[in-house]
Amino acid sequence: MSITHVVALGGSLLRPEEAASRSMWMGQLRQLMVHLEGNGRRIGLVVGGGHPAREAIELVKDSVSDLTRLDRIGIAATRLNATLIQQMLLEIGCDVSPSIPETIEDARSMLEQHHIVVMGGTVPGHTTDTVAVKLAAVAHARHCIIATNVSHVYTKDPRKHDDAEALTEITLQELSDIVGGNVRMKPGSSAVVGPVAVQVAIDSGVNLAVLDGRDIRRLDDALEGNLFEGTIIRA
Ligand code: UTP
Repeated sequence: MSITHVVALGGSLLRPEEAASRSMWMGQLRQLMVHLEGNGRRIGLVVGGGHPAREAIELVKDSVSDLTRLDRIGIAATRLNATLIQQMLLEIGCDVSPSIPETIEDARSMLEQHHIVVMGGTVPGHTTDTVAVKLAAVAHARHCIIATNVSHVYTKDPRKHDDAEALTEITLQELSDIVGGNVRMKPGSSAVVGPVAVQVAIDSGVNLAVLDGRDIRRLDDALEGNLFEGTIIRA
């Protein structure tokens, strides 16, 4: 049976500040996918909404107050970003599922037919991290990799606290204590791993890996089961 990987690709990774790093990152991601497919791996990529999600939610925040409606706008943005990655991989001939699955069950069955499945969100009330953890559980992935724009899980928010320490190995329970339990996040808000995702990982016994996805080598290392720069979070 082939090895299955699931990666939550943070939406922020798709829009680095500089155009040059953007095309370099896209190129490295393409190469990595070609390499993994060549080795017979199955890869589920769950793409976040990033800039388009935040911008769209911001645009309507004074006229739409229903959180579920805002979530639906966020989900549309995640699917836009997923389509971008999907089409880019189809363009170079990768075996990518031709449609963007909207449920975990569809994603799981598409992963049986294609080497690569790219998706965004599913239903309101959580973020794409949660989708990725659920997919990792049903697809029996070794772990769920959260590729984001910070290097590690920190003891506290490093943007607010100078004494925040980077963690290399923790338990899911410790991560849950850091991100604040099983609470719904505001649509469009951000955390290193969403609290709902951590609870789903605890419930389904899925290990997580958090790393800086701007450096594709770190992602490659984690996928290969090598020591990687980032945080490993064990069930
Ligand atoms: P993201 O998964 O992109 O949230 O979903 P994020 O934490 O901002 O991730 P990054 O920054 O892209 O890495 C964007 C929004 O879409 C809605 C939520 O409102 C979320 O905040 N969403 C997404 C859902 O309601 N359900 C989903 O399955 C996915």
